[in-house]
Amino acid sequence: MELSGLTTRLLGRNFLWLESVDSTNTFLLEHGPQLCCGTAVATSCQTAGRGRMGKQWQGGQEGTLALSVLIGLPFPGEIYPLLPLLSGLAAAQAAGALTGEAFSLKWPNDLLYQEKKLGGILCEARGEGKNLQAVCGIGVNLFQDQGYFDSRGLVYGSSFALSGLPVPEKERWICAFLNHLEENLDRCQREGFASLLPGYTQLCANVGKMVALHTPGGVQTAFCTGVDSQGQLVCQQGERVFSVSAGEVSVRGLYGYV
Ligand code: BTN
Repeated sequence: MELSGLTTRLLGRNFLWLESVDSTNTFLLEHGPQLCCGTAVATSCQTAGRGRMGKQWQGGQEGTLALSVLIGLPFPGEIYPLLPLLSGLAAAQAAGALTGEAFSLKWPNDLLYQEKKLGGILCEARGEGKNLQAVCGIGVNLFQDQGYFDSRGLVYGSSFALSGLPVPEKERWICAFLNHLEENLDRCQREGFASLLPGYTQLCANVGKMVALHTPGGVQTAFCTGVDSQGQLVCQQGERVFSVSAGEVSVRGLYGYV
C-alpha cells in the first residue's frame, strides 16, 4: 500500500501493512525500541484488538481498519497525556475532510456520526525518560452491516457505509488521520493545548449535557461544562465543580450514548 497523500515529516513515513496481527498497538509496543518515531502499522485483520478500559475491540474482517502509530522523541513526553484528545480531534478532522460531513467526539476520543460510534482510539505508553514511547491506535468501522453490530451487542456502533456516508479508501483514511495528528502534535508543542481546546470543545458532544460517569466504584451523574487545558472533562454537581481524567472514567449520556 502506498501512502501518496501523506504531508507529514514523521508520521507514517515508515509504514507497514500487515495481512493479520493480534493488535497493531501490541505490535508497536513490542517492537517500539527498534522503530523510529512515526512508524505506523495498519491491518484489516486484528485477531485480539484491544479497547479502552480493558475491553476488547471487535474487528478481524474486511470492513474494519486498525491503524497504530508510534510517538517518541522528538515529540516531548509532556504532550503524551494529551494524545487521546489530539488523536480524537485528528479522527474527527480526517472524517470531516474525507466525507464533507460533520462528526463529533464522545470525550475523550470516540468518533461519532449522528450519535453512533464509527471509531475508537486507544493510546498507551511504555518506557520512561528518553526511552518513553507512546502508541496511538485507532479502529474505524468502514463498511460493516447492521448484523455485525447486532450480533455483538454493539447498540451504539455503526460504520461509514451503514450511516449512509461515503466510505473512505483505506489509504486516504490513513493519510488524512496521520496528517491531522501530526499537525495537532506540532501545534500542541508550539502553542500549547490551549490553542486546540476551542476546536476540540466545539466537537465534543458531551459539553453542555448531563453525563453519567462510570468509575470502578460506581456511576454518578453530573452536568458537563467543558474540557480543561489538561484534557480533563469538567463537570458540575450542584455547587461542586470537578474534573475527571480519561484513564479513570468512561462517560455516557443519560438517555443514550452521549
Ligand atoms: C475503544 O473505543 O475502546 C478504543 C478502541 C481502539 C481500537 C484500536 S484498533 C487499532 C489499535 N489496536 C488495538 O488493539 N486497539 C486500537
